Amino acid sequence: MKQLIDLTGKKIIVTGASSGIGKAVAEMLGDLGAQCILIARREERLQEVTKSMGGGQTHRYYVFDLENVEQIGELVKRVVSEVGPLDGMAYCAGIPGTQPLKVNKTAYMQHIMRVDFLAYYEMVRCMIQKGNYRNPCRIVGVSSVAASYPGKGQSAYGAAKAAMDAATKSLAVELYKKGICLNTVRPGCIDTEMHQSFQSGTGIDLMDSITQSRQFLGIGQPEDVAGIVAYLLSPAARLMTGVNIAVDGGFTCH
Ligand SMILES: NC(=O)c1ccc[n+]([C@@H]2O[C@H](COP(=O)([O-])OP(=O)(O)OC[C@H]3O[C@@H](n4cnc5c(N)ncnc54)[C@H](OP(=O)(O)O)[C@@H]3O)[C@@H](O)[C@H]2O)c1
Repeated sequence: MKQLIDLTGKKIIVTGASSGIGKAVAEMLGDLGAQCILIARREERLQEVTKSMGGGQTHRYYVFDLENVEQIGELVKRVVSEVGPLDGMAYCAGIPGTQPLKVNKTAYMQHIMRVDFLAYYEMVRCMIQKGNYRNPCRIVGVSSVAASYPGKGQSAYGAAKAAMDAATKSLAVELYKKGICLNTVRPGCIDTEMHQSFQSGTGIDLMDSITQSRQFLGIGQPEDVAGIVAYLLSPAARLMTGVNIAVDGGFTCH
């Protein structure tokens, strides 16, 4: 029987592939036949993930700090010259940024916005230049429930994720004639390093305070998000563009 999600031969960038959701996405895309281009800062982690990936394709990694938004054009040019035109991207990189207004000075806001939104936007802008992508091209941004339900101290993070969601809708309308579809996913609480650092930083037991009260299907695993991202990157999601999909165990349905 033909597989619903088949990514054989697709060349797909995965940012934030050194841990958590990005790592799970890269591994799942590899298993589905894609050739993945992994991007993050920690080289050892990237090396480990790339080595462990299956699917028979030659996966590659690039060590890059996405806070350097102005250098993304050079990165994309290098990737395309070494790998060829791209079929998609999963933008999974992100930083949490949970702190109160009194310490949220402009430089801090810019730091969060650069990694969580501006680098995503610039990656899309550079990817869709002539010769850099193949039609059809599918892009997925990993946003957050915080885009609509930002908790206390999440003003910077929530704003960056809301910006990603809104820009994605607008770009979906602007780019469909080029064969480019864009969507975002909005995870709830997922068991990753980011989630653990939030828990130890705030002292809040998320298991109790969020999962039992709001996220009633329980805390998620990175693979729960990766499956939806893989679907959105595949031809099976042909009719989907400009949507922000919750993967949140019920967090936003009540
Ligand atoms: N976990 C959750 O509960 C949750 C909930 C909602 C949304 N999300 C979103 O899901 C995405 C993935 O988060 P996660 O939970 O998987 O966290 P994670 O395990 O901490 O992974 C974050 C990834 O982003 C990369 N990254 C961070 N800053 C970067 C930079 N300046 N340049 C390049 N790469 C950078 C990290 O790689 P390096 O450190 O190696 O650079 C790492 O691979 C984020 O966008 C996050 O906002 C997570």
